[in-house]
Amino acid sequence: MIQSPYSPGSLPVYLAGRGHELQVVRDRLARVEALGRSGGPLLAFYGPRGYGKTSLLRAAQREALADGYLTVWVTGREDAPLAPDLAGALAEEVRDSSLLAQASALLASLDKVQVELGVPGAKITADTAARRPGDAIEGSLKQAAQLARQHDRHGLAVFVDEFQDAPTADRRSLLIALQHFDGAPKGQPVAVIAAGLPALPSAVTAAATFGERSDFHELRLLNDVATVEALKLPAAQLGVHWAQEALEYAIEATRGYPHEIQLLGEATWNVARPAQGDTITIGHVRSGQETAERRMDQLFQARIAKTTDDQRRLLDAMASLGDGPATRGSIAALLGVPTEALSRPRQELIGRGLIEPAGHGRLQFTVPGFAAFLRGQTEDTLELETQPDRRGTGYSAE
Ligand SMILES: Nc1ncnc2c1ncn2[C@@H]1O[C@H](COP(=O)(O)OP(=O)(O)OP(=O)(O)O)[C@@H](O)[C@H]1O
Ligand SMILES: [Mg+2]
Repeated sequence: MIQSPYSPGSLPVYLAGRGHELQVVRDRLARVEALGRSGGPLLAFYGPRGYGKTSLLRAAQREALADGYLTVWVTGREDAPLAPDLAGALAEEVRDSSLLAQASALLASLDKVQVELGVPGAKITADTAARRPGDAIEGSLKQAAQLARQHDRHGLAVFVDEFQDAPTADRRSLLIALQHFDGAPKGQPVAVIAAGLPALPSAVTAAATFGERSDFHELRLLNDVATVEALKLPAAQLGVHWAQEALEYAIEATRGYPHEIQLLGEATWNVARPAQGDTITIGHVRSGQETAERRMDQLFQARIAKTTDDQRRLLDAMASLGDGPATRGSIAALLGVPTEALSRPRQELIGRGLIEPAGHGRLQFTVPGFAAFLRGQTEDTLELETQPDRRGTGYSAE
């Protein structure tokens, strides 16, 4: 059997249906290349978990690198400042690149940022006082971009994943740096491209009011053509064919959710165990579906484990109203609360990308199958409650 070409949880072999988004990034970078100036305000992609934000950003980074940019990647984290990570990542890139010989001054200054700002509770000395995290971020980017530009690169492309999780002060520093670069008479060849959950736009504007000038793009589920490509092309490269019927079944089963497409692709492949020249049939997909759904359930389980009681009640009420959009009024009525009581959990769940507004005061789930999963959970609980001997309290009714 040939190894499965699908990649649940990691980068896809083929990034399907994101041609438009990749073009948006290319256009930004073209500006840096042509003018030697900044790529403008923040460019940011957002969407729920598993929609393919990291995959898109990585593909864009790979392209930028191949096109001749110095690229750097950082991930926003709630518990750690961005500046030292950024300096560390920049230093690593510069060391790995052909720029090393010219970069000793830059590397020394990047080291300093990492040492001074990277240790929690490190003392701010007189020397570091002038090097607040904001200055460190702006200074590091500027120096690295200029070094790149002076040495046959078009400029610096910075990719920030999970942007919403970076501490507010760091988000702010990055936005301010971008604004300075944009206005600088000399021009700073830096572009910053971010990705994150649907909470990202509000995390940007909360950090700096001018952040609303950022260029936000929402990632949607894949359409049918993209779903077919995501399944078919990686197999075709290995000489394995998908029957039309099998593809149609897979479109229905995954409803365009990229993570589930990879799960189903892999589970189906492991059932079919194809050799070169073989065809994957609808029977294989049907048999693979159970495994894929089990893994989706584990994912859903992890997601609801992190919800508050209020959030969970809202989710359960929505699920009990069906798979489609539900009005706020009907959810509130079901819970016996005024609609205003829903505002907070509603906003939190939207930010985390579990639900989304669907027009006319309605809300819907973002990931296909989540409603059914929640209903299954409620049934399980009810079953346990009506069968005391299965509750595991240690007391049986004699
Ligand atoms: N355009 C695409 N075509 C095919 N597969 C994709 C595509 N985008 C993402 N995937 C697959 O979907 C899964 C989730 O992708 P990814 O990790 O990029 O999502 P994400 O939005 O960053 O999720 P999270 O919010 O959890 O970080 C991965 O298995 C990846 O291979
Ligand atoms: Mg991601």
